[in-house]
Amino acid sequence: MRLIQQTVRAEFHYPVHFTRDAFRPDNQILRNVLGSGNEGQRRILFVVDKGVCTSERQLLTQIDTYCHAHAEVIQSVAASIVIPGGEVVKNSSEYVDIVRDAVNVHHICRHSFVIAIGGGAVLDMVGYAAATSHRGVRLIRMPTTVLAQNDSGVGVKNGVNLYGKKNFLGTFAPPFAVINDLEFLESLSDRDWRSGLAEAVKVGLIKDAAFFEYLEATTPSLAHRGAAAMEHAVYRCAELHLEHIRGADPFESGSSRPLDFGHWAAHRLEQLTLYRLRHGEAVAIGIALDATYSHLVGMLSEPEWSRIINILLRLGFSLYVPELECRGVGKDCALLDGLSEFREHLGGQLTIMLLEGIGRGVEVHNMHPGVIARSAAILHHLARERSISHAV
Ligand SMILES: NC(=O)c1ccc[n+]([C@@H]2O[C@H](COP(=O)([O-])OP(=O)(O)OC[C@H]3O[C@@H](n4cnc5c(N)ncnc54)[C@H](O)[C@@H]3O)[C@@H](O)[C@H]2O)c1
Ligand SMILES: [Zn+2]
Repeated sequence: MRLIQQTVRAEFHYPVHFTRDAFRPDNQILRNVLGSGNEGQRRILFVVDKGVCTSERQLLTQIDTYCHAHAEVIQSVAASIVIPGGEVVKNSSEYVDIVRDAVNVHHICRHSFVIAIGGGAVLDMVGYAAATSHRGVRLIRMPTTVLAQNDSGVGVKNGVNLYGKKNFLGTFAPPFAVINDLEFLESLSDRDWRSGLAEAVKVGLIKDAAFFEYLEATTPSLAHRGAAAMEHAVYRCAELHLEHIRGADPFESGSSRPLDFGHWAAHRLEQLTLYRLRHGEAVAIGIALDATYSHLVGMLSEPEWSRIINILLRLGFSLYVPELECRGVGKDCALLDGLSEFREHLGGQLTIMLLEGIGRGVEVHNMHPGVIARSAAILHHLARERSISHAV
């Protein structure tokens, strides 16, 4: 019997830029990310979220002008591919096929680039198509929503949905670079402006009390589209997210997924509401549910629980949808299936992040269905009491 024990090490480096007007011809960031002029032109395929084009009417022209101005490094291989925005692009194979076909037809190789411009859903789908073509072509992400700039677009994951399950197909694939153009946020709907703030509240709650306090102090500004407050919120949230990925288990080989605080319920609620809820809106409810649970089991004090519920409400989130209802606990509770799906997606032992204080996440390996149901009932009661509409 013989054995060769192999070890493979790989290190990834990628910049995450924060800028405005990335396609103004004198903005050098994208050009510099692509490399020096000595290396000649790079073949580039742009894939753009239609929602961004609709609101930024000049975007496609600006891209063309930018490519022209930097023709020594950029060879745009075709007109930008414009695809719908939102979860629809992750719910069928149609759009992955469109991107893969374009990679094939336009001879995008592993030294060429796909540049994805859009919300988290478009970035996830294009990222998956890029990572699985030629075993991975270079991807530059240009996130255009708050959620994509502060969370989904800066990390190492991509994916599409299958079998009614979020991100059933996907890979871990660090991008070549990320360019966060804060100007894109101006055209977001109020819903999408708010939605990404749930991830900022989340990361503050599990990792950084001072950041949570910043979000509390700037809530009026954040809720009324204050650009300066949002700029810092996006930057710090992205920074905390990146620090976490850098330090721990970037490809999630363990059973723990701390950044997914509030997400076991959120992913399930997204499915149960047939994606009526945005990801961030579902995360806000998931945070409220797990914070309430943490309080009910004696881990989190009442004043801290109130602060969490209050910031979410003051930011404008609804914290209850009928799909939270746990009728027949332990038997037919559709929400509770989220726990087993969450465990199965990661593998290993069920590991859920709860709170023992603001800025202090703690992992548990068991959740009591009865307490989850009571937590949901409290959110229902709160919603009724405050006459907060759950219709979104
Ligand atoms: N890969 C990860 O690590 C990760 C992490 C968190 C979330 N996600 C995924 O991200 C997705 C949610 O992303 P999202 O919240 O960005 O929403 P989204 O991508 O669904 O976009 C929401 C809407 O905003 C529009 N839009 C995008 N940018 C715009 C702009 N600048 N102006 C006007 N409209 C614009 C889109 O067309 C869409 O209609 C979910 O699929 C979620 O699962 C992935
Ligand atoms: Zn999330």
